[in-house]
Amino acid sequence: VDDDDALQVLETLDLHGIAKYIKSDACKNIFIMAGAGISTSAGIPDFRSPDTGLYANLARLKLPYPEAVFDITFFRNNPKPFYTLAHELAPGKFRPTLTHSFIRLLAEKNYLHTCFTQNIDTLERRAGVPADKIIEAHGSFATQHCIKCKAEYPDDEMREKIKNQELPICNKCKGYVKPDIVFFGEGLPDEFFSSLEHLRSADLLIVMGTSLTVHPFASLTEIVDESCPRLLLNLDLVGGWGSRTNDVSCLMPCDDAVRKICELLGWEEELDALWADT
Ligand code: APR
Repeated sequence: VDDDDALQVLETLDLHGIAKYIKSDACKNIFIMAGAGISTSAGIPDFRSPDTGLYANLARLKLPYPEAVFDITFFRNNPKPFYTLAHELAPGKFRPTLTHSFIRLLAEKNYLHTCFTQNIDTLERRAGVPADKIIEAHGSFATQHCIKCKAEYPDDEMREKIKNQELPICNKCKGYVKPDIVFFGEGLPDEFFSSLEHLRSADLLIVMGTSLTVHPFASLTEIVDESCPRLLLNLDLVGGWGSRTNDVSCLMPCDDAVRKICELLGWEEELDALWADT
């Protein structure tokens, strides 16, 4: 038996093999890595899908390049494009998806160790995933601060400004206020880095709805042990998937994939009940 076979922990490299593995005693700690693709069925565009992605639809903002809308240097000079977008993306208008409910179901069944998300829409929290299990690696709209004096800015005033498409200005120093979203050029929150070593104890990594193009988030996939199966639930193959013996990919809408997994695990009714509740 060569060492590759010895490393394979899944009976079959497909959802059946994953479901069997989840039911076995070998699978206790499941880690999630999520991206914008898990919120597209909620009506929130992702970033890089060719026609529907946000970056293909920002022409009206007359940006030098699409990512400028989330660039801190650009924002300091001109925060208007971001606030035009924030008005359209403002949380509170969207309902979590079946995939968000699946993450909550994993938590309810004590499988979920940590959900690392790149999304800023707070839909994981809204779906009822316990806050202490969520790492919002790129921040979120939940809070906001002045970019000059760092003073906090009231949540209700922020909601008002975004709703009325007005620029929130710091009550103390008249500087621009920005939601605590991680812009290009800013560092990720400390809790992202302090949680990395837990990934070494992962028994299963599920990556969903992300192009795995933005680092350091994307590099999380390399931290899990060779013996930890990695499951990709995404429309297209990304992140060099298949380079490891225990890689499984399921290339379809993630809501369909999570339903399939729950079907195989006998969790479909519980999944639907959770989602009906959101
Ligand atoms: N089901 C499964 N996959 C989907 C679905 C869906 N319903 N919809 C879209 N996808 C896939 C796309 O095919 C793509 O591979 O999700 C991925 C989304 O990739 P991106 O648009 O690049 O989004 P994401 O990976 O989250 O972007 C990362 O880029 O701009 C920054 O900070 C921003 O957090 C964001 C980061």
